[in-house]
Amino acid sequence: MTGMDTALSIKGLTKRFGGLTAVDNIDIQFPKGILNAVIGPNGAGKTTLFNLVTGMVPATSGRVMFEGNDLIGRAPHEIVSRGLSRTLQIKSVFGGMSVMDNIRIAVFAHEGISSPFRPARGYRAANDRVEHILEDTGLDRLASSSAGALSYGDVALLEIALALANKPRLLLLDEPICGMSPSETERTVERIVRLAETTDIILIEHDMEVVFAIADLITVMAQGQLLMQGTPNEVAGDSGVQEVYLGTPEDME
Ligand SMILES: Nc1ncnc2c1ncn2[C@@H]1O[C@H](COP(=O)(O)OP(=O)(O)OP(=O)(O)O)[C@@H](O)[C@H]1O
Ligand SMILES: [Mg+2]
Repeated sequence: MTGMDTALSIKGLTKRFGGLTAVDNIDIQFPKGILNAVIGPNGAGKTTLFNLVTGMVPATSGRVMFEGNDLIGRAPHEIVSRGLSRTLQIKSVFGGMSVMDNIRIAVFAHEGISSPFRPARGYRAANDRVEHILEDTGLDRLASSSAGALSYGDVALLEIALALANKPRLLLLDEPICGMSPSETERTVERIVRLAETTDIILIEHDMEVVFAIADLITVMAQGQLLMQGTPNEVAGDSGVQEVYLGTPEDME
């Protein structure tokens, strides 16, 4: 992987929770310009990896290099302002407000404009970005709907929209289609693929059909360690990967 542009480079990253090593001395490079996926059985350390990268959980040791800087030790808001966002499992939308106003608040906050409802310097550009985000996520059809009345799948799209408000160059998605209906899944996957054309994405996903259909490179974790990184074909044909999934065959269907 040397010589390739990397979106994120992780070196010797370790996280211990008491006696449990959730992330165990991991070295991974995620190349730029492709759709990266991270897979692995439950408890493999995937979400902890994202928590470490985004500063939400302090690392025990190691480095996380993003655009030439080590992110370890930095606060979550500083990491976001440096161009790395994630979606949160905790529902972070304002249910009583419209989809568009939720996005406006996030975009205007990022731009440092105090009120999205009062004209100010940069107001026009910020509103244009709101429109773009609505289009990019396919939420334009729901712009004036109350966020509290959205389907599960549309809330997930709104969370992606709120993450995009921070203008990330790298976006981390943790099981974005979990719990969605087949049609919501299809629509969201389509959006993710399209977003990946302009924003680097690292996607944690359990739905193997989706992962193998859209990922360019798959990183496999097991028990806190990096098992392998390869193309969908390489990963599908790897006996070590098949072995770690044998205990949970429903994940590999
Ligand atoms: N805050 C915490 N305190 C203690 N243990 C934790 C904490 N967060 C995660 N763990 C443990 O670390 C291990 C890795 O968890 P993690 O959530 O990263 O796995 P995962 O790969 O995301 O799993 P899943 O596919 O189920 O989401 C698990 O054993 C989990 O119980
Ligand atoms: Mg997880």
